[in-house]
This record gives sequence, structure tokens and C-alpha cells, in this order.
Amino acid sequence: KPDDWHVHFRDREILKAVVPETSRTFARAIVMPNLKPPILNGKQAIQYKERIKKIIPKTDYFEPFMTIYLTEKTNKKDLKEAYNSRDVFAAKLYPAGATTNSDSGVKDIKKIMPVLETMAKVGMPLLIHGEVTHKEVDIFDREKVFIDQNLDFICKELPELKITLEHITTEEATMYVNQGNRNLVATITPHHLALNRNAIFVGGIRPHNYCLPILKREKHRRALIKVATSGNKKFFLGTDTAPHFTSDKENCCGCAGIFNATYCMSILAQIFEDNNSIKNLEKFTSLNGSNHYGLSKNKTKIKLLKRNNPIIFKKQIKVGNNSISVFNPDFPVYWEVI
Ligand code: DOR
Ligand code: ZN
Repeated sequence: KPDDWHVHFRDREILKAVVPETSRTFARAIVMPNLKPPILNGKQAIQYKERIKKIIPKTDYFEPFMTIYLTEKTNKKDLKEAYNSRDVFAAKLYPAGATTNSDSGVKDIKKIMPVLETMAKVGMPLLIHGEVTHKEVDIFDREKVFIDQNLDFICKELPELKITLEHITTEEATMYVNQGNRNLVATITPHHLALNRNAIFVGGIRPHNYCLPILKREKHRRALIKVATSGNKKFFLGTDTAPHFTSDKENCCGCAGIFNATYCMSILAQIFEDNNSIKNLEKFTSLNGSNHYGLSKNKTKIKLLKRNNPIIFKKQIKVGNNSISVFNPDFPVYWEVI
């Protein structure tokens, strides 16, 4: 069974609607802490985990791994205790303003270096949204500039720190991670493998293909495909499935995020097959991540079946009077999880 090393479940009615979409296919997931208000300490993470566990269907075996949202005020002692007691699996670094609910994130990386030092000492993984937020930096360059200005600094100061550069989108990121120290790995989403930036503007503006980091040029998508399908141990799946109401996406100021949990494995199987690499799909979705995090691989399995005709995607999942639109990459997908 695959694992999803980066998922947004939200809370309340959305939580109820989306958890089964992940637990149906995935055995484990790292759950992001960017709720409103964010998960800032061990106690809040434990309570959030309980809310998630109540929703997992009885027929699914699924384990959520919790994270804490780093701020310039994060308490080192609480973080260490939460990690040592296994209530929390990792901490997430959002540069302030980088994405959805990141306002309480970190403005100055130097201010959290003592916290990162503690994490390196105890072996707690750091998950990074790797984009700078300065308004003057072009949105398509924000990942590369983060690597040059921040990630390189952290890696050099704390070579022992376990770092996951999340949802990478550029050729530069694939190269930096590949050549970086062995504790540095990266997750890749299905949408960044499936689409390039043209998909945001096909015949008009396409809010359902808007996410952060934003989709990039075709050459960057090709670089992501290359590392993901190669079996390289440093790269693995983190879907960044990020539900928003359809009305909040189809809006004059639409939210960033793509809800891809429902057909993720089907889409990935299609992409891997199209790139003659179906044999490496399991490494990307089920082995490389658990290996990096020092976890055993899952014992249960899923079965993927190739149909003669493309599968028909459902368009939305209902949440009360609202809906969440389901990611459709707009190419034929023949693989079905059965
Ligand atoms: O597109 C995104 N949506 N990127 C993120 O980093 C966060 C996510 C969300 O929470 O909606
Ligand atoms: Zn995310």
C-alpha cells in the first residue's frame, strides 16, 4: 500500500469528507498543521489526531502522522517532548505568507535556528515549504531563490538535520536535492508531474489548476518526471492534496490548492506507464518514503487494474451545501485502484 507523506485534511465538515478519500488507498500520511488556527504544540496535535481517527472508516487501516507548525515562538522543549513521546512525527516550516494559512509562519529563518538545532539532535524531521515570499521575487522563481538563500544555509549549518523539501517543482530543486547531503530528500505531487504551467490558462483561467508552489514550465515537469520515475531513493510521493470549496477556488481571489486524493494512484500509474517506468511506481509511492523516515514498509497491498477504456472521474465530492472539486489532469487515465 502506498503512503502519502504530505496531506491537508483541514477540520470539521471538510475533515469528514476528505479523510476517507485518502484512507481508502493510503496506509499512512503526514498531516499538515496549517489549520485556522494552526497546530502549534504537542497537545493540539494529539487532539487533532483524535478528531482524524474518529473519521477513518472501520474498514480502512490508516495511520495519521502529526506535525507541528513552526513559528518564531515555538517552544523547543514542547517540540522535543512531543517528538520523543511519538505524538508528533515532524515539524513544518512555512515561510510567513507563502501559502494557505501561513500568516503565523517564519519571517526570519535565523530566529528558529535554535529550534532546528534541537530537532537535528533528536532526529525530528523538518518539512519545508520551500518558497521565499518577498513580493518583488517573481512567483515562478520563489522556489529557486529559497534554495539559494535559505535551504542552502540550513543544510550547511545543520548537516545532520533530516529535511524534506516539500512539493518540489523545478529542475534546480531536483538537482539540489540529488547532490545534497543524504538527509535531504524531496516530495513530489501528482499535479506537478501531470501538468505544466500552461494548464492554468487553457482557453481561459483555470482556478482548479492553481496551487503553490505554482506549476512551472514543461522542462521543469520533465525534470520531476525523470527523478520520480527513476526509482531514486531521495524522491517520493507527497500529494499535497489540499481541499478548498469549489466556490473559494472559482472566485475573484481564488485559493491555492488541488484536491487530488481521489484518483492519485490512477493518475500516477498512468504517468509512470507513459514514461515506461511502471516498475518504479512502488518505489515512489510505497518504499522510498518509509525508508527515509526509518519506518517499515506496509504489509497490505492495493491492486491497480488497467481498463480498456479511460476511467470516468467523479467531478466533486459534496460537503453539506458546498462541494470540493476533484483533480482531473485532462488526459486519459486507464488505471483503476480495485
Ligand atoms: O496549493 C497549496 N495549497 N499549497 C500549499 O502549500 C498549501 C495548500 C493548502 O493548504 O491549501
Ligand atoms: Zn501542502
